Amino acid sequence: MPYTLMATAPLGLEAVVTRELESLGFGGLTVENGRVLYQTDAAGICRSNLWLRTADRVMLVVGQFTATTFDELFEGTKALPWAELLPRDARFPIEGRSVKSQLSSVPACQSIVKRAIVASLEESYGQRWFEESGDSYAIEVSLQKDAVTIALDTSGQGLHKRGYRTLTGPAPLKETLAAALILLSRWAPHRPFADPLCGTGTIAVEAALIGANIAPGHARTFACESFAWMPANAMETAKREAFELRRPLADIHIHASDIDTEAARLTARHAELAGVSDAIRVTRASLAQFSAQGEYGCIVTNPPYGERMGSEKEVRTLYKDLGRVAEQNPTWSVFTITSHPAFERLFGRRADKNRKLYNGRIECHFYQYLGPLPPRKKAEARPERITGELEDM
Ligand SMILES: C[S@@+](CC[C@H](N)C(=O)[O-])C[C@H]1O[C@@H](n2cnc3c(N)ncnc32)[C@H](O)[C@@H]1O
Repeated sequence: MPYTLMATAPLGLEAVVTRELESLGFGGLTVENGRVLYQTDAAGICRSNLWLRTADRVMLVVGQFTATTFDELFEGTKALPWAELLPRDARFPIEGRSVKSQLSSVPACQSIVKRAIVASLEESYGQRWFEESGDSYAIEVSLQKDAVTIALDTSGQGLHKRGYRTLTGPAPLKETLAAALILLSRWAPHRPFADPLCGTGTIAVEAALIGANIAPGHARTFACESFAWMPANAMETAKREAFELRRPLADIHIHASDIDTEAARLTARHAELAGVSDAIRVTRASLAQFSAQGEYGCIVTNPPYGERMGSEKEVRTLYKDLGRVAEQNPTWSVFTITSHPAFERLFGRRADKNRKLYNGRIECHFYQYLGPLPPRKKAEARPERITGELEDM
C-alpha cells in the first residue's frame, strides 16, 4: 500500500532534506515550507527514518482537507481510514498546532480530532470503549491557513537523537543541523576534515557517519517498528542492508580539537559511542595552534557566538584566529555558522557564499569560504594516518 510521507525539515533546510531524499531514491517530491512530501511503501518508511540525517521527523500523512469550523474538522478527521492504522489497543496522543487559521485554539482542535478518531474506531471495531493500553501511535493535527494535515508520527523520538550523544556540553549543535552543515559544505570523504572548536564532537561524529556511509539511525529504534501493520522485520532488513553499505572508517581523516580538556574528552567518548573513533583524531588545542593535516581539506565549525557562550572579546579574537587559519591553509575550505553580525569583518574577508539558517531559535548565517577543489590525482593523496587517541598538542 502506498503511503504519503512528510519529512519535516528545519526552516531553511528543505533543499538539503530534498537532496537527501533524492539520493535515497525517493521521487515525486513536493517541497513546502518546513516539509517535503513523497510517496512510498512500508519499507520506505523504515529507510527514511533510518537514513535521513537532516530531517526532524518522518510523518505519515493520514489525510489533508480544509476546515474553518469544528464540524468540518470533526467530519474530515472521522472520514479517514483510522482502523487501517490504529489497532484496538492503540494509544493515540494528539499533538496540535495552528498558524493563521480560523480554528486557532490548539487544545480545542486536539480534542475534536481525538473525538473524531474515537468515533471512527467505534464504527470500525463495533465497541465503545478503547483502553489505549498498547503501543503509541502519536497523531499530529496541524492547521496552516485553514488547510488541515493529520499525520501519524513514525519516528518516535526526533531523528536528531542518534543515540551516541549521552553527555552534553555547553551549546551543543543539534545532530541534524551538524549533518546539514557538512552536506552543505563541499566535503567528500577522500578529503581531510577538521572541527577545531569541537565541543561535544557533534560535527566530527556526523562527518564520520557521512564519510563511512553509516545510517545515522542504525543504533536506535523508531515508533514505526511497533506499528501493527508494519511487516515483521522490516526495520531489521533495512538495518541489515544499511550495514552492507558501510565504507571503511580507516579511509576517513577527521581532526577534532578544542581548547577545553573536558570537551576533547566528550568528543572522544561520543566518537567511541557512535563507533567511529577509528576515523577521528581528538586533541586538546587552541584554535591558534591548529595545524592542518593534508591539503584540500574542509573545516566545518560552530564557534561561540557571544550569545550563549564566550565573551565579546574572546569571540572577536577567535574569529580573527579562524581567518588566520584560513589564510595559512589556502587549499582548505572553511565553513562557519554564527549569529555574530561582524563575523566576516573579523575573519578578514567576505564569504564566497552565505546562507541564513537557524540554530534553535537563533538566527545565524553559514559563512562559506571555498578553497580550490582537489585536482583529480591529488584526490587519491591521503594525509598521514592518524589514531583515535586523545592527544595533547
Ligand atoms: C559552541 S561550542 C561548540 C559546540 C559543538 N559544535 C557541539 O556540538 O558540541 C564552541 C567550542 O569552542 C571552544 N573554544 C572556545 N575558544 C576556543 C579556542 N580559542 N580554541 C579552541 N577551542 C575553543 C569551546 O571550548 C567550545 O567547546
